[in-house]
Amino acid sequence: MKKLVEVRNLRAYYILRGGKIAVKAVDNITMDIKEGEVLGIVGESGCGKSTFARCIMMDFTPPLRKIGGKIIMNGHDLTNLSMEELRKNVWGRLVSMIPQSALNALPPVRKIGDFIYDVASYRLGIRDKEKVQELAQERFEDVKLAPYVLNMYPHELSGGMKQRVAIAIATLLKPKLLIADEPTSALDVVTQKAILRTLLDLKKGGIIGSIMFITHDIAILRQIADRIGVMYAGKLVEIGSVDQILYNPLHPYTKALINSVVTPEPEIRKRGIAYIPGNPPELINPPPGCRFHPRCPYVKGICKIREPEMITVEPGHLVACHLYSQEEG
Ligand SMILES: Nc1ncnc2c1ncn2[C@@H]1O[C@H](COP(=O)(O)OP(=O)(O)OP(=O)(O)O)[C@@H](O)[C@H]1O
Ligand SMILES: [Mg+2]
Repeated sequence: MKKLVEVRNLRAYYILRGGKIAVKAVDNITMDIKEGEVLGIVGESGCGKSTFARCIMMDFTPPLRKIGGKIIMNGHDLTNLSMEELRKNVWGRLVSMIPQSALNALPPVRKIGDFIYDVASYRLGIRDKEKVQELAQERFEDVKLAPYVLNMYPHELSGGMKQRVAIAIATLLKPKLLIADEPTSALDVVTQKAILRTLLDLKKGGIIGSIMFITHDIAILRQIADRIGVMYAGKLVEIGSVDQILYNPLHPYTKALINSVVTPEPEIRKRGIAYIPGNPPELINPPPGCRFHPRCPYVKGICKIREPEMITVEPGHLVACHLYSQEEG
């Protein structure tokens, strides 16, 4: 599969107290997103998933600052684009996001249709009201919302309907990549399934190209993802196909994540340690070496000193862990 997004050595920190404090939320991430795939990103709360999503949107609003690295999308380096260029060529068209707070982000006193116009004119640079109306109606049909919802206020909608509105807004211009940040976390199981189906249908219908699906629930990725990337404390620690990650997890953190999930399949549950002692580290002053070492049951001397590099263990399956590096055995 062709690469759609190439992330190279990306670092983005929250710079606080006039530069005295840096929260290292995304710290040296390198990975690709392929054309047409659903890539799941999983990790505990606070590990940097949403920050990573903001980076791919090139949303470096203070206090978030890009410290280094590159994002190449569709062959173009996004690094030095102006706001105007991002608005014209990138947001909505190349990449679009359903933010984590989408359910609560609809302004209470604005009708849905008016809000969609606000977003289209401000974020996407489309000022023609009729055109926006037309696009919105088309997409509402795709996400299975009735046209009259355009005339309703957010409080009149269910959680599932609000999420569909958010999906419609994010996909107005048929983005090549849709980033969905925890789009199902606040919904009941039946609605969750319906939302997943809608996302997959949009992809099948060619309205979105690839999906980056962010969640803290690794089990849900079995239903939607082709590949899974695991984040821990601002780092990507493992990436591979769904089968590689779920049935042959390598990183002790991935093993622990899988085992902390209630899954009916003993094949998946039986591997590795059963729970993760301790808490994720402070990202202001993360542990040296491997950031997982204070919680890792397999910790060795090297883990406390040297940061593990990403290595390929089998085709398409990469892990950053000293247990697998050649030299350390
Ligand atoms: N605006 C901000 N200012 C300072 N620090 C922030 C800000 N937003 C996030 N952080 C910090 O950056 C780190 C990563 O946060 P982020 O929201 O990216 O994590 P997450 O994986 O999306 O978590 P969750 O699963 O809870 O959504 C956390 O330590 C968080 O406290
Ligand atoms: Mg988040």
